[in-house]
Amino acid sequence: MDELRLRLDVNNMMADAIGEHGITDAELEAVVPKAAEAFDYFAKNRGTGMMGWSELPYNQDEVVKELLEVAAFVRAKFKNFVVLGIGGSALGPIALQQAINHMHYNELSDQKRNGPKLYVEDNVDPERMAALLDVIDPKETCFNVITKSGSTSETMTQYLIIFDILKKALGDKAVDNIIATTSADKGNLIKLVKSEGFRSFIIPDGVGGRFSELCPVGLLCAAVCNIDIKKLLEGAAYMDKMCSEADIYKNPALMAAAMQYIAMGKGANISVMMPYADSLKYMADWYCQLWGESLGKRVDLNGNVVYAGQTPVKALGVTDQHSQIQLYTEGPFDKVITFLAVDNYRTDVTIANGCEDIAAVNFLCGHTMQELIKAEQLATEYAVMKSGKMSHTITLPVVNEFTVGQLLFFYELETAYAGAMLGINTFDQPGVEEGKNATYALLGRPGYEEKKAELDARPAKNSKYII
Ligand code: PA5
Repeated sequence: MDELRLRLDVNNMMADAIGEHGITDAELEAVVPKAAEAFDYFAKNRGTGMMGWSELPYNQDEVVKELLEVAAFVRAKFKNFVVLGIGGSALGPIALQQAINHMHYNELSDQKRNGPKLYVEDNVDPERMAALLDVIDPKETCFNVITKSGSTSETMTQYLIIFDILKKALGDKAVDNIIATTSADKGNLIKLVKSEGFRSFIIPDGVGGRFSELCPVGLLCAAVCNIDIKKLLEGAAYMDKMCSEADIYKNPALMAAAMQYIAMGKGANISVMMPYADSLKYMADWYCQLWGESLGKRVDLNGNVVYAGQTPVKALGVTDQHSQIQLYTEGPFDKVITFLAVDNYRTDVTIANGCEDIAAVNFLCGHTMQELIKAEQLATEYAVMKSGKMSHTITLPVVNEFTVGQLLFFYELETAYAGAMLGINTFDQPGVEEGKNATYALLGRPGYEEKKAELDARPAKNSKYII
């Protein structure tokens, strides 16, 4: 499997390569003790508290068996599989499906697709719900309601609408079209599992939403769409092994965390993820939640106000070379760019002959699209380096379950290490609560009367600023 090992190249983070805005060897050496502390903290606490996700590659044999059985049942019985969830319950499934399966999976013929169509509904836009209902027959659809807390309004709204439709169409048999994925004992969805008799999978306590792709949250949907979930978990375990030493030169996730930590200290408060592969496009969305929600914290573990975090931004190579790269090369020194590169794309297309009289076009002929995209990635890496901006590159030998498993686990580890280095709680999200509570108050949830009063008393808007 070593030929499928991910590679991290941090050369272009360093002052040697990019000059005064880069990281010096002395700066890197200075954070080595902090990185080692973060490593030790993780090593000692892994598998406990909110770090249950770290054991998912190893402790799911029974769960995987059950997932494969249920997936086989879904594949045989249903034409569509719809995920109802948001945040960590949706971004991983979307990213994995895009990475592994055909880019127009739903449009393939039934024979070629060889499984249900997949829809991941992660919003409460009524137009989107109506659009979904225009293209699926709920009777032929399995709905996977995913919410760890079992109380997320968006997901429970979707559940209420769909279960009502199913009951009207199928009566008592409606329960067969729902699979719930939730916490074993918290929230409302587990209560419904018990009262309605839905099939269910459990999200372990120590696995937070954004760290949940490798548990039933992501694995059921993947198995239903014929993705090899065992290989995915093997890839994660392989990355775990690659990161089993405290030495930053032998632990890529720790090296990446140390680099980002130093970069944040230098004012690089934006982290751009730029995959050079459409298959990895939505990995950037998944990363944005993981990095943003985990590290964006007002206070550290000692209660000091720190306003930590780095704003994640998604980009796509080569598409965004024609949109964002001008800013990244000539704009401020406030970013770290991560390029995701691929050694071998799963297919290739030779550029046809033509334009013999136009040398500026004809030079492309005979090359392949793979050569072109790789040349553009190298060229952009070079341009960013030449402009003195920090970047690093993670290369996947090929995009498959094993390498994507590595990538997911790499980022979960990097996030855990970076959070430990920043001295913050990586696994909570108190900043999300205010908006949630205000929504409850606005829609009249019992117990939120005081919040409603607080909202009603908010400063009136000045009409002068509404134009
Ligand atoms: O990372 C997290 O915990 C959150 O972003 C959740 O994934 C998101 O809020 C959805 O929560 P839940 O799974 O409880 O519905």
